[in-house]
Amino acid sequence: MPGSSQMAPSHTDRVFVIQGARPLAGCVRVSAAKNSVLKLMAAALLAESPSVIHAVPDIEDVRIMIELLEVLGARVRREGSSLVIEPTVSTCVAPYELVSKMRASIVVLGPLTARFGEAHVSLPGGCNIGRRKTDLHLAGLAALGAEVSTNRGFITARARKLKGGEISLHFPSVGATENLMMAAVLAEGTTVIDNAAREPEIVDLADFLRKMGADIAGDGTSTIMVRGVSKLEGCEHAPIPDRIEAGTYILAGVATRSSIAVEGARPDHLEFFLEKLRQAGGQFEIGDGAIVVAQEQRLKGIDVPTMPYPGFPTDLQPQMMAALATADGLSIITENVFENRFLHADELVRMGADIDIKGSHAVVRGVETLYGVPVRAADLRGGAALVIAALGARGVTEIRGVNHIMRGYENLVEKLRGLGADVRMEVTESGSDLETGD
Ligand code: EPZ
Repeated sequence: MPGSSQMAPSHTDRVFVIQGARPLAGCVRVSAAKNSVLKLMAAALLAESPSVIHAVPDIEDVRIMIELLEVLGARVRREGSSLVIEPTVSTCVAPYELVSKMRASIVVLGPLTARFGEAHVSLPGGCNIGRRKTDLHLAGLAALGAEVSTNRGFITARARKLKGGEISLHFPSVGATENLMMAAVLAEGTTVIDNAAREPEIVDLADFLRKMGADIAGDGTSTIMVRGVSKLEGCEHAPIPDRIEAGTYILAGVATRSSIAVEGARPDHLEFFLEKLRQAGGQFEIGDGAIVVAQEQRLKGIDVPTMPYPGFPTDLQPQMMAALATADGLSIITENVFENRFLHADELVRMGADIDIKGSHAVVRGVETLYGVPVRAADLRGGAALVIAALGARGVTEIRGVNHIMRGYENLVEKLRGLGADVRMEVTESGSDLETGD
């Protein structure tokens, strides 16, 4: 079974042991986008009949979403790498035990309210990278006519029938845009979502919903228009490739001055990231169905401000910091999306990086090389940054907190080994570190 070597009982800790300073070589294929698949799975609840999602990655977050759908009463089965979801919902309660493991669980709020007239979803709370507020989800549902309240740690939304409405988001939240788009597809009348998120995952979700029979226009722009329909049927869909996984491997190639092909990476989803990387001296070509890295020179320091799409993705900020840690010169990285997404910086400093954090800015003075030491991942992308740093570092790096990383990277060890990296995973006896999820 793919990824089975990555499973471990919850009372164990998994450690990556990486012997660094070896160039990578060969090809790696990116999996389907985690942040798309999770929403498509929730959207399947909107239909009257089963949906099939193809090439679903075998990662922890998908397993948690399967568990959540099953708790709600849906039947979910894997057929090869596809997931078949029968939307036979028997309860509209998303419990704390699951939502606290993965905050993306909140995307069942819109579908449950729209199709079943009520939803009780545990408040996800913050996670290691920030507060992760839900005000936009709740205000948006209220604008569609739902009665929305929060009480004793639960969000409750009720509506006999949602009604189309005008929603203006004060920030282009990805999750709120998705929740509201899913709520609006079965509402009576037309909904307009202004200042909507424009991420490729939003377009993928809209494509999925359209296949189900929804009437949506403007996805991929800041104004999304949804004309409600009376019912939806299940459909079949192959999700977009994971642009963040692609960017992570591209940065691993660049940071280790390697020649690798990242297959399935879509340059049109990575435009600003690739432009920034080029400015930093990244050497790569857009090939046929792949982005081909052939890095010989050392990177140069640059400024990187994260922004909602199409800006530089916050989900690639930590990995970019790891690559710039050994660049020639000074980089200033500004995190504009989350309050606390620099947890990896101190671990990189332990590896020899020179990084100062000043509010939302990280000042990175490039050093010649990093050194392998024991480090700990505190979140998914911060963990990926440590992997990149370890691949380029002299000596052996042991990365703890691997559970965070395995939430979002399918077959990471196997894929890195396929590129010639000296990586292994060890299982040690200690407490679980699966904490409040992203
Ligand atoms: C999605 O999270 C992704 N997760 C995140 O990826 C990603 O970092 C993020 O979008 C931004 O691109 C999934 O798709 C599962 P947001 P989401 O709502 O939807 C504030 C990864 O590494 N906000 O766009 O939760 C919020 O506090 C993960 O794969 C409000 O103020 O992100 C944050 O500062 C981590 N009110 C900012 O917006 C709200 O009601 C962005 O959040 C909602 C959000």
